[in-house]
Amino acid sequence: MSLRNERPVIIDTDTAGDDTQALLMGLLSDRIDVTGITICAGNVAFDHQVENAKRTLELAGAEDDVPVYEGARSPLQKDHELAHHIHGEGGLGGDRFPETGIESGEQFAVDYIVEQARANPGEITLACIAPLTNVALAYKKEPNLDELLDEVWVMGGAVNCLGNITPAAEYNFWVDPDAAKIVMNNFDVTLFDWGLTVRDTEFGPETLERIESGPDTPLAEFFTDITTQVREFNRETMGRDAVTQPDSALVAALVEPDLIEETGMYAVDVDEREGLTRGYTAVDENDVTDSDPRTRVVESLDSERFEAMFLDMLFEERPDAALGS
Ligand code: RIB
Ligand code: CA
Repeated sequence: MSLRNERPVIIDTDTAGDDTQALLMGLLSDRIDVTGITICAGNVAFDHQVENAKRTLELAGAEDDVPVYEGARSPLQKDHELAHHIHGEGGLGGDRFPETGIESGEQFAVDYIVEQARANPGEITLACIAPLTNVALAYKKEPNLDELLDEVWVMGGAVNCLGNITPAAEYNFWVDPDAAKIVMNNFDVTLFDWGLTVRDTEFGPETLERIESGPDTPLAEFFTDITTQVREFNRETMGRDAVTQPDSALVAALVEPDLIEETGMYAVDVDEREGLTRGYTAVDENDVTDSDPRTRVVESLDSERFEAMFLDMLFEERPDAALGS
């Protein structure tokens, strides 16, 4: 396979609400080349996630160009709970969308990731916006995966802050803490955690009103449809009329790395044990362990520019419209 000039990216996703926006961000940008989408167990029933990714491809007009590969249908060792109460039963708010009829790629997602990394050493970036089961399985198959990839960017964990699924943990790390531990211990990860999500990617009532009352595009309408339930959930549980963008912020920063304002290099580990601290992210900010500070934690993101990219995506189908080439 010959790759185009843009940065080639595989997006690993448990496609529900925010994942769809992340996929659109990547698919509609000229600056990165989404070469494949891999699906991992997470937010909602696996087959709904697969269909949600295909529906998103259709919205981006990319259904003939970008294959969807089905991966792990459950975490490595543990049971997990779906997030229907946040994203709706199908993962895209209240109503299910009609089936797309798009066929999945024939390969198992884990084999696809390994094959692509081996065939294009040092070129592929893995954008991980789901539990890390597929990536951990790929590592077990190819222990040199970190060297074979260009970069590994992960949305997951809660860096010295409250989690979103338990007080101790963010959802992606909670679902498969064994996989998260393997990945954080064996890859040079750029980490977008839940704390960053809350600090720098929240859209409040003014932005949501701008989207609702702005140009009546299919993507703006889709956004409002899929965020209605999560907005209500956030109002009820946190008393905040807002929605966050954990996954699309990561992909936006791949499109425009200058969105990243501050980072820190830390040793990061994950508590894989069942119980109160399942999925807890241990981040050695004070450098008191002997562990290698190999994780680049994104600590601050340019929220105004991110929001501008997001609105350009919804209204013009061009998240990089204002960025130049
Ligand atoms: O916890 C945030 C993560 O859970 C994100 O990946 C979000 O899309 C949901 O999947
Ligand atoms: Ca996700």
